[in-house]
Amino acid sequence: MKLSVYHTPELTPLDNLPECAVVIDVLRATTTIATALNAGAEAVQTFSEIDKLIDVSDRWLPEKRLRAGERGGSQVEGFDLGNSPLDCTPETVADKRLFLTTTNGTRALQRVENSTTVITSAMVNRQATVRYLLDTKPETIGLVGSGWQGGYSLEDTVCAGAIAHSLLAANAITVGNDEVIAAIALYTQWQDNLLELFRQASHGQRLLRLNCEEDLKYCAETDILDVLPIQKEPSVLVKFS
Ligand code: MLT
Repeated sequence: MKLSVYHTPELTPLDNLPECAVVIDVLRATTTIATALNAGAEAVQTFSEIDKLIDVSDRWLPEKRLRAGERGGSQVEGFDLGNSPLDCTPETVADKRLFLTTTNGTRALQRVENSTTVITSAMVNRQATVRYLLDTKPETIGLVGSGWQGGYSLEDTVCAGAIAHSLLAANAITVGNDEVIAAIALYTQWQDNLLELFRQASHGQRLLRLNCEEDLKYCAETDILDVLPIQKEPSVLVKFS
């Protein structure tokens, strides 16, 4: 398996998509997606545009859908939920489809939707991601950070490093670009203090200003969910089984 890390969707080469794309948006979209599917959501359908989300979700029974999303970290007006993983309890999401729009995570998903396999990862389901990759052995893997509006983000890179670190330790990958080594170095440096790293990250600071300290704490937890979100059709993620 040849593994590359791309810090942002824009840096991910469209003419050479990885066989397996792993989309990462630790703060908070892919943490929320993993948590919702783990709590029994039927699927998570992602949108970059609010109007399109409303249009598509209008065709679903109201009791079977939840509209969720943020802009700039704050809940979209009129939606049922924001983008906090802590809202995705079984009581709220079980058997429902989460229609989700976020600033960066959903754009990253769109960028790689034509890869043969698209999965999502975060710290909470890192081990499930590693296990899936070791089991399925795709020829090429791209760890795609969502970043923030085209820019680099610490939290996505450290998660990419955490995944790459385990795969390298298992002698399972060859290194596809320098970003892999840099991501592993970041993870090695911060693995015992991820919450502090998230506090220093620019989006972490934005979330702290929005009083989302508990979200940061949750997103920094590692390997707590045995769930792997996988793309069933473009924009629709379900639990891999
Ligand atoms: C995003 O997609 O940019 C994030 O998930 C934003 C957030 O923290 O809600």
